[in-house]
Amino acid sequence: MAKTLIPPFCVSGATGSRKERLITRTSALFPPHSASQTQARTVATTSEPLASLPSASKSRHSLSPMLESQTILITGALLLLLFLAWKYKGLFVFFWHECILLPVFNFISGMSKEERILNWVKQNAVVGNPQSVLEAIDKYGYEKEWAMHVGDVKGRIMDKIMEETKPKIVLELGAYCGYSAVRMGRLLPPGGHLFSIEFNQKFADISQQMIQVAGLQDKISILNGPSQEIIPQLKKKYEINTVDMVFLDHWKERYLPDTKLLEESGVLHKGTVLLADNVICPGTPDFLDYVRNSKRYECTNYPATVEYMRMHDALEKAVFLG
Ligand SMILES: C[S@@+](CC[C@H](N)C(=O)[O-])C[C@H]1O[C@@H](n2cnc3c(N)ncnc32)[C@H](O)[C@@H]1O
Repeated sequence: MAKTLIPPFCVSGATGSRKERLITRTSALFPPHSASQTQARTVATTSEPLASLPSASKSRHSLSPMLESQTILITGALLLLLFLAWKYKGLFVFFWHECILLPVFNFISGMSKEERILNWVKQNAVVGNPQSVLEAIDKYGYEKEWAMHVGDVKGRIMDKIMEETKPKIVLELGAYCGYSAVRMGRLLPPGGHLFSIEFNQKFADISQQMIQVAGLQDKISILNGPSQEIIPQLKKKYEINTVDMVFLDHWKERYLPDTKLLEESGVLHKGTVLLADNVICPGTPDFLDYVRNSKRYECTNYPATVEYMRMHDALEKAVFLG
């Protein structure tokens, strides 16, 4: 470019005032557009050899390997992303929904996902009919938005365990929107009661309303607070002497410490069933290690799938032997 801007006669024989005149004329014809052009003109005025000018062909050559390696890198990254998306489709769909679509849905509807679920249930379920509440939540989970209820597939396994165990007092760790509470609550015998611990105030309120729609408010109580604070108070503050079944479905790293807290607090009796969700996905390895290697528990694994997905998951039943 420098060469085209500055015709050869400007550089070769131009000296003194003639040179200045020539430059003025050239500048009028080809005004500089960039710093490099200005630089080229300055260099020419000092009569430096043309070879020292940063030529266009030189920069084209030094740019292209850079561009090539960038293109290779970007293509590689895209291919890797596509491969991961294909290999872990379930997780990819999950993150796509939870991280990309969810904020958009929330913004458009002006509601949280849990509020949308409750609204849907109010519009589609029959008040006082727990089964219709479960069906409405499952339909929403399959057709509208994924949500972390235990779901119908693992739910049917829970129903079977409830029918075999026939618990009178059930403790649940993690209520969310009240789906599993309604699921277990509907199978409680007369006089039976379910206590569900939930530390998120908004989820506790949604659960309470869900339980009301299902008509199970006399059978289910939501205890609002963190499990690690409530479990040690179960006997004294909540007058729960022993529990026949515990459903563990809160944050996975709390399964093991809360199991130990339950043992220490003395609410487990011989035959109390601990039923743990998500032992494969996302997984609870320390809890599984503990109950499976302890003489105090007898364990059974129930393979299943992640709620509203085809990914592998399982429930673990650990019966406390005293
Ligand atoms: C997977 S969801 C529960 C789903 C519910 N059991 C169902 O199937 O419908 C987990 C819930 O546990 C609650 N949670 C997590 N850790 C907790 C803790 N330490 N104490 C009380 N609640 C907790 C979360 O706020 C969340 O609502």
